[in-house]
Amino acid sequence: MNIIENYPLLKLNTFGVDVKAKYFVSINTINELIEIKKNNVFKDLQLLILGGGSNILFTKDFDGLVILNNIKGKEIIDQNHQSVFLKIGAGENWHELVMYCVDNGWGGIENLSLIPGNTGTAPMQNIGAYGVEIKETFVELEALEIASGKIVKFNNSDCEFGYRESVFKNKMKNQYIILNITLELKKNPVLNVNYGDVKAILENQNIKNPSIKDVSNAIIIIRQSKLPDPKKIGNSGSFFKNPIVNLNQLELIKKKYPNVVSYKINEDEFKIAAGWMIERAGWKGKKFNNYGVHEKQALVLVNYGLANGMEIFDLSEKIILDIKDKFGITLQTEVNII
Ligand code: EPU
Repeated sequence: MNIIENYPLLKLNTFGVDVKAKYFVSINTINELIEIKKNNVFKDLQLLILGGGSNILFTKDFDGLVILNNIKGKEIIDQNHQSVFLKIGAGENWHELVMYCVDNGWGGIENLSLIPGNTGTAPMQNIGAYGVEIKETFVELEALEIASGKIVKFNNSDCEFGYRESVFKNKMKNQYIILNITLELKKNPVLNVNYGDVKAILENQNIKNPSIKDVSNAIIIIRQSKLPDPKKIGNSGSFFKNPIVNLNQLELIKKKYPNVVSYKINEDEFKIAAGWMIERAGWKGKKFNNYGVHEKQALVLVNYGLANGMEIFDLSEKIILDIKDKFGITLQTEVNII
């Protein structure tokens, strides 16, 4: 195992920001990680665990140790006539995993096709798209507790999943390194095609009884038409979360903006489409030097080339202030700002 000094992170974050890590190590096995821990390399160093680098904005060089979690592997640990229990290394690419499941006819994560990033970071923010979240197939994960060096299991409820939330973003933040996750996939899944765009594409293709593959293909078409490919344009997907408001707040907004796009969560909670507000506030497609707001999806901030993270961060702050001013709502970032 090789700890490298002043390591460039440009290729390790999908925003394509050119920063360096003071120290960097890539980990391929759990034993390598345990060895680093035993050698006390963690001691006194600020740590950052990197997976696919798809949900992070670096605003400066990282003055600590970046550990690239590259632990691979896929293993069926159990199955019955309904389900397959698949254990996946944290360093496996998420979309490749989805394709592997789709090709095997195992359902549950096909709506999460084409989400950038790695498998180990997926539960951290309970990735979700088109009516599905990872928490619905998630069984458990194993993680290294940094303080003790012990391997600890977290089951579904231990993870305290919420909308783009888990215990690993909150009270357990920076305390664990996720090693692998186990998902329960279905051999005869009930497919979720309720999301408007998905339904429309399947109808357009005249598909009445979609297969897992059909749903995945539809999702890929939607994502490719709306979201920039991080290999071509630097971005981290949705930069902000969709805010959740109560009925009173929604009614106040509706008085001024009767067309506001919102979704009911329960009797008193509604999610507002932040992309709609940002577009309505005039930011969609705005370009400043080498960065801006994506032209097809206002929730996505983009780096067209040489922007630094601080510029993108400043833009996000301006958007937050403007949305607060116009709609009375404070947007929260989905992306981790470092
Ligand atoms: N909208 C606009 N203008 C925009 C963007 C959106 O008016 O520029 C309105 C449209 O009316 C649209 C509605 O907002 O119907 C919802 O838009 P979309 O279906 O694109 O979804 P979203 O709420 O903007 C969320 C997730 C995405 C996920 C999609 C589909 C969050 C923060 N984002 O976006 O996740 O792919 O739903 O399920 O919840 C991500 O997390 O990185 C991500 C891309």
